[in-house]
Amino acid sequence: MKTYKIAVIPGDGIGPEVTSSAVAVLKTAGSLEDIAFEFTECDAGGCAIDRYGEPLPASTLDVCRNSDAVLLGAVGGPEWDNVDPSLRPERALLGLRAGLGLYSNLRPALMFRELASASPLKNVESMDILIVRELTGGIYFGKHGVFESSESLPDGTVKGLTAYDTEEYSTAEITRILMEGFRYAQARRKKLTLVDKANVLESSRLWRKIANELAPSYPDVALDFLYVDNCSMQLINRPSTFDVIVTSNMFGDILSDEAGMITGSIGMLPSASLGAPGTPGMYEPVHGSAPDIAGTGKANPLATILSASMLLRWSLGETAASDRIEKAVRSALADGFRTSDIGGDISTEEMTRAVIERL
Ligand code: IPM
Ligand code: MG
Repeated sequence: MKTYKIAVIPGDGIGPEVTSSAVAVLKTAGSLEDIAFEFTECDAGGCAIDRYGEPLPASTLDVCRNSDAVLLGAVGGPEWDNVDPSLRPERALLGLRAGLGLYSNLRPALMFRELASASPLKNVESMDILIVRELTGGIYFGKHGVFESSESLPDGTVKGLTAYDTEEYSTAEITRILMEGFRYAQARRKKLTLVDKANVLESSRLWRKIANELAPSYPDVALDFLYVDNCSMQLINRPSTFDVIVTSNMFGDILSDEAGMITGSIGMLPSASLGAPGTPGMYEPVHGSAPDIAGTGKANPLATILSASMLLRWSLGETAASDRIEKAVRSALADGFRTSDIGGDISTEEMTRAVIERL
């Protein structure tokens, strides 16, 4: 029997509740497919700040590096809103992304037919978008700084304290993420939309140039371009026409929340962050730590359970076990199981049980 090493980072807020649901589902799905897991729990985020004085202890990164994949709940909460910016819980996420070289963030925004009525938009019957977000470059990781400026505005006011963040992308970074976008489009409905701001940004123009150069190598994929402001409008206007969207770190962060909302509930959306082939990927729900409902048993565990399904597929190649989980989730929804975020009142535990019973 094959045994996989999984690093589990429960994190803060509802993180521990939803990861324990996903671990339970993984165990059962694994036993049905004759695979086993060795789970190692580690700390990151606010709980790590409390325990070790830093959001991402080196030991956590080590465990992750030596695992086949990482399952993460969520990090952050109001308790840590006033800590030094370099110690914020979010630094743990950025540190894991950089430390594990996770440059490709897959955020599927899939509308489950059973939940179409939860969408804030009228008349959206279907929507199945894969957002491929670049994850270790751009303005998140570019040069940042704060300085005192003695220059003045045209009206003579001295500028004073000034801060900057820079968007910088290299050909190598753009090429590898675009190639991923093309490949995912080939495996799906063969449409790739590059979202940028090429009417203003030099870095966006480089993305477009490289996309146009790569396009002939993927003749079966229809490539088109949208400015990010227009894309945010078109996602509302015609969500079902998108297939794969490839975009920079910051634009992907923003658009994936928008696309997620259109599907009806952010509590349903899984994600994968992948690096070079053969290195561990990280899987986490798109939603955050939801401190307001932590400990109440109201959290929807499905986004994390679906993240576990992605983990099986993308990092372990265990397609049968992955399919089993996806089908069980669909069947639990079809049978009417709903947590409060999707219009019902069952608990995290009841939803988890409903999925496990359907594996
Ligand atoms: C996300 C989050 C993170 C990001 C934050 C928490 C650093 O919003 O994963 O989308 O901006 O990448
Ligand atoms: Mg975000």
